Amino acid sequence: MGTLGYPSRMAETNKDSGGDEQVDFGYRRVEAEEKPKLVRDLFDGVAKRYDLMNDLMSAGTHRLWKREMIAWLAPKPGMCLLDVAGGTGDIAFRVNVRFQGGGRIIVCDFSENMVAQGRMRGWDKGIVSGIDWLVGDGQSLPLASSSVDAYTNAFGIRNFTSLETALLEAARVLKPGGRFLCLEFNPEQMPGLDRLYEFYSFSVIPALGGIVAGDRDSYRYLAESIRRFPAPPQFAKLVREAGFGGVTWRSLSGGIAVLYSGWRT
Ligand SMILES: C[S@@+](CC[C@H](N)C(=O)[O-])C[C@H]1O[C@@H](n2cnc3c(N)ncnc32)[C@H](O)[C@@H]1O
Repeated sequence: MGTLGYPSRMAETNKDSGGDEQVDFGYRRVEAEEKPKLVRDLFDGVAKRYDLMNDLMSAGTHRLWKREMIAWLAPKPGMCLLDVAGGTGDIAFRVNVRFQGGGRIIVCDFSENMVAQGRMRGWDKGIVSGIDWLVGDGQSLPLASSSVDAYTNAFGIRNFTSLETALLEAARVLKPGGRFLCLEFNPEQMPGLDRLYEFYSFSVIPALGGIVAGDRDSYRYLAESIRRFPAPPQFAKLVREAGFGGVTWRSLSGGIAVLYSGWRT
């Protein structure tokens, strides 16, 4: 159980009596095969306002967390980095600066509108080469096995239908010795902060989403999906079980977000 008594995910797929697999979509239970379309439609719908909402919701703090991710990754020119669920390209643009034109970045995201938004941002920033934009599913990546040096995933994996499948895909495409980094929210907050966090995520954020993106429900889902994600020890265990060694994590901003690291064995 999470601090506030919400069942945290470890979740939760189960078979009903008809044999159909059900999974969490926020607090709703949906058929596993239904979930990707629900998630894709949601991000397609908010894509144009996504970056603005990120800044407003986190008061810009998501930028510090992403900076921390890049610092821990320490990208080297010449590497091939795959950013899964890369959305509008925040991680890719930051790494591109570090590569100074000497590496390859692949952004893969299954929302066409998020990817389109990312490409447009690239043009606006004058970045027209060095980043390949792919529309594809992080659970069946359109890439060869052992083909990338580093895999990153920032705030994407909790939306996937199966964490296990996503992690196995990460292990498949990484070269042996390759680096895995994943940034996600923590479903459990420090005692004392939890009531405030609860109010903020379930009242303020959906209200902001309604005003800024015209979509209150999608931002409520985002808050719910955080509560359904595993706590750090459980997620780290899944990462290990998928074939990663040296798995560790760092708490960011008093444990609001968590950065996970592992190495492909
Ligand atoms: C919260 S956004 C994060 C975007 C970006 N990484 C960032 O930090 O700003 C989550 C992203 O995950 C993508 N996503 C969700 N499920 C996915 C899947 N199965 N395969 C690929 N992308 C997925 C969504 O389309 C969305 O762009």
